[in-house]
Amino acid sequence: MEKKNIAVVTGASGGLGREFVRLLAKDPEIDEVWAIARNEEKLYHLKKKIGKKVKTYSADLSNRKELQVFAAEFEREQVSIHWLINNAGFAKFCTYDDISIDESINMIDLNVSAVVAFGLIALPFMERGSHIVNIASQASFQPLPYLNIYAATKAFVRNYTRALHLELKERGITATAVCPGWMQTGLMDRGHVETAKAISVFPFLSAPAKVAAKALRDAKKGKDISVYGFYVKCCHVVAKLLPQRCMMQAWLKQQKLM
Ligand SMILES: NC(=O)c1ccc[n+]([C@@H]2O[C@H](COP(=O)([O-])OP(=O)(O)OC[C@H]3O[C@@H](n4cnc5c(N)ncnc54)[C@H](OP(=O)(O)O)[C@@H]3O)[C@@H](O)[C@H]2O)c1
Repeated sequence: MEKKNIAVVTGASGGLGREFVRLLAKDPEIDEVWAIARNEEKLYHLKKKIGKKVKTYSADLSNRKELQVFAAEFEREQVSIHWLINNAGFAKFCTYDDISIDESINMIDLNVSAVVAFGLIALPFMERGSHIVNIASQASFQPLPYLNIYAATKAFVRNYTRALHLELKERGITATAVCPGWMQTGLMDRGHVETAKAISVFPFLSAPAKVAAKALRDAKKGKDISVYGFYVKCCHVVAKLLPQRCMMQAWLKQQKLM
């Protein structure tokens, strides 16, 4: 039996994930785009808008058991995963003790553990020419006070993905860490916390559709990192040149937190 060629997108119900689904559904080599998120209603509307190539799955990926279900589903459906877009993630804009321990750890579960676990679950179903695209962030370039855990999770994703890319070279599979700057998406609303000290300045917003399109292009070129936009590229270079202490001071000044 011929295997189905699929793309899998996590965090597909809005923002950047929805743009990946839209772009991948247009690829004639892809038979199905599996769109995963928690909100069933948003997934229903996504499928209605984009079309029958989209197959929706409601799952909380910060829960290891719900993640594990996909191993059996990939086996049952006899798929070849051409694209895995590990995109689901969230941030909290606040001081370290403004959110509960559970919320802090949940951020690590989703932004880090789910990315690693889903990649490992998907890899046995990936062939030469397939791509893993892990969404990191501009926040991965330096430590960020008041976005502390989020920035650390994204530094993990960036470093993990670039090293994985080299490990996968002999299998002909690429892994690309995507590092977007600020985008006007659901992340902004979900990140908001009523507190005295919170980040509130979001300069040089990027369009999610452009970030997603560049990420797919860069992955096809075999790049291990994808950075969209002049401002974010400058920040990337400067973060390599300046001591992290200076970068953190500059961040606090930009956010009017010092
Ligand atoms: N927006 C920015 O400024 C920005 C900048 C750099 C990087 N990023 C990264 O870009 C990625 C996409 O975020 P976005 O900006 O598009 O934000 P978004 O609009 O809030 O999208 C996040 C997606 O993740 C899903 N999600 C959240 N928690 C989940 C869970 N436990 N299990 C499964 N799915 C879950 C959400 O859907 P449900 O609620 O339906 O589950 C939603 O589809 C994230 O990794 C984020 O860190 C964003």
